[in-house]
Amino acid sequence: MSHPLLIAPSLLAADFLRLGAEAAAVEDAGADWLHLDVMDGHFVPNITFGPLVVKALKTRSKITLDVHLMIAPVDPYIAAFAEAGADHISVHPESGPHLHRTLQLIRSLGKKSGVVLNPATPIQAIENTLDLTDIIMVMTVNPGFGGQAFIASQLAKIAGLRRLIDASGHHIILQVDGGITPITARDALAAGADCLIAGTAIFGKPDYKKAIADIRAAAPIPAPEYSVSLG
Ligand code: DX5
Ligand code: ZN
Repeated sequence: MSHPLLIAPSLLAADFLRLGAEAAAVEDAGADWLHLDVMDGHFVPNITFGPLVVKALKTRSKITLDVHLMIAPVDPYIAAFAEAGADHISVHPESGPHLHRTLQLIRSLGKKSGVVLNPATPIQAIENTLDLTDIIMVMTVNPGFGGQAFIASQLAKIAGLRRLIDASGHHIILQVDGGITPITARDALAAGADCLIAGTAIFGKPDYKKAIADIRAAAPIPAPEYSVSLG
């Protein structure tokens, strides 16, 4: 990795009675992005929140909103999340019939586009849309819930995507989502991740600044020497 580690706390593990304050607290604690897990009880077996909550968070905080849509069909709701203030909109290839069209739609709304690979989804599902992709997210748990154990078999996929991205010449951020702790962070980073999403390992700790620093400390190279952005 030749750039700093990005850390995106997942609000799924926050206190839902205090979402605005929780978002502000992780921003103050050094988070780079805020990860928002949108679930519909259909694509995944859990329900969270929709565009109204994204919009409310946008008014409260300046942090980049990294929206992970676990809903199907996804296309009819992309515009609503864009209007609500999502900065990044990431979708699963299984959540609609035409991933290429979905990514075009996200880009057309001026947002960064992301694709998400479930543990059983192969790299091949997204390799023909790299030119429309700003972010690739590897799920290291099955989507739907926080607090699950990191699935180590996904490390080979992360490493494969690192090679694919580097060979492609495209500027694509490689994210890892699920079961991240200071221990599993080391493996994800060694495999080539640029950005780690962590819910329980941050919001489940009393000191968010220390929790983020503990994950950053897993980086093989200290962060301050580097700089990366989606530009
Ligand atoms: C799961 C979500 C994750 C989740 C991660 O469907 O996509 O973002 O919040 O939670 P932890 O870090 O607790 O595994
Ligand atoms: Zn997520």
